[in-house]
Amino acid sequence: MDDTKELEDEISAAIEAAADEAALEAVRVAALGKKGKVSLLMRGLGKMSPEERKTAGPALNALKTRLGELIAARKEELAAKALEARLEAERVDITLPARPRPQGAIHPVSQVMDEVAVIFGDMGFVVAEGPDIEDDFHNFTALNFPPGHPARDEHDTFFLRGQKDGAPMVLRTHTSPVQIRTMTAAVEKARKGGAPLEPIRIIAPGRTYRCDSDQTHTPMFHQVEGLVIDRETHMGHLKGCLADFAATYFERPVKTRFRPHHFPFTEPSAEMDIGYSRKGNEIIIGEGNAWMEILGCGMVHPNVLKAVGIDPDEYQGFAFGMGIDRLAMLKYGIPDLRDFFAADARWLKHYGFSPLLQPNLATGLSG
Ligand code: DAH
Repeated sequence: MDDTKELEDEISAAIEAAADEAALEAVRVAALGKKGKVSLLMRGLGKMSPEERKTAGPALNALKTRLGELIAARKEELAAKALEARLEAERVDITLPARPRPQGAIHPVSQVMDEVAVIFGDMGFVVAEGPDIEDDFHNFTALNFPPGHPARDEHDTFFLRGQKDGAPMVLRTHTSPVQIRTMTAAVEKARKGGAPLEPIRIIAPGRTYRCDSDQTHTPMFHQVEGLVIDRETHMGHLKGCLADFAATYFERPVKTRFRPHHFPFTEPSAEMDIGYSRKGNEIIIGEGNAWMEILGCGMVHPNVLKAVGIDPDEYQGFAFGMGIDRLAMLKYGIPDLRDFFAADARWLKHYGFSPLLQPNLATGLSG
């Protein structure tokens, strides 16, 4: 029995001394494994007299249980210590500032498109789209440019090889064809539903193309089109809407005037000028004695309404179109249009906008 006590003390000490789970496992195998010391003692039970076995058997079993419990407890302790050590080693300092990451910039054209959409969105307009490659009907004929009409030549059109209805396809010279597509879809919807035409209020921003290039012209540029159609919208609404747009866009009071003009697709037609003054090389928008044109507009021509199947005796409305790139140059003081499309990262870094600043009317269009 003394031998057993000595063995228990020895193994208990080894369990306590095991520095990690592997060492503990070695102690367990040496004591309780197949050839372990305790297991060998138990095998000896067979050779004992029944008398001896009566006391030695339960004593050995109890020893085995105690050692098993000691090992389990030590194992738990070691696992907790190991976890502690790992947490300490892999500790993350969450107060460290994040590593800087390269950040892109929003191009002034995208910025101005967003600003324009926010302003007209607030007035109840929705954004509409059309294709860059147009057919002659949508780009010209339906907009009341008769075949062979000289106004077609003013557009310096890029013609494509493909044809439709005997006329070459074109790169759209303006965003006005989106008017035709939008009205055609609305007429179709009304016809299918057997319902009257729903009022239309859209803007159509997008790319446009003309064969032209200098400091203020590039072969590809951007316009935004506007269209309102219902039963009672008149020229007064047009003027209020566009004057309001100018002041909101330039984020200051802006003088406006409407000058009679001619477009095939509107009657009457006008151009809107805004007041400005010059201080040295700088242009100050809003007040002053000089005027500059920023957009074309007018009441939608009855022939345009007829071309899409809308009765001009029942419906009317206004349309307008303006150059987005020019709006950007004026507001943000960018002198040369060609730089817009030169893909120079330094230029974009200088004139671009933070992607985190979303234009809105509550906290400001341009941040
Ligand atoms: N489409 C014209 C252009 O590119 C701009 C324009 C003028 C659009 C008057 C309109 C408008 O809708 O009513 O020069």
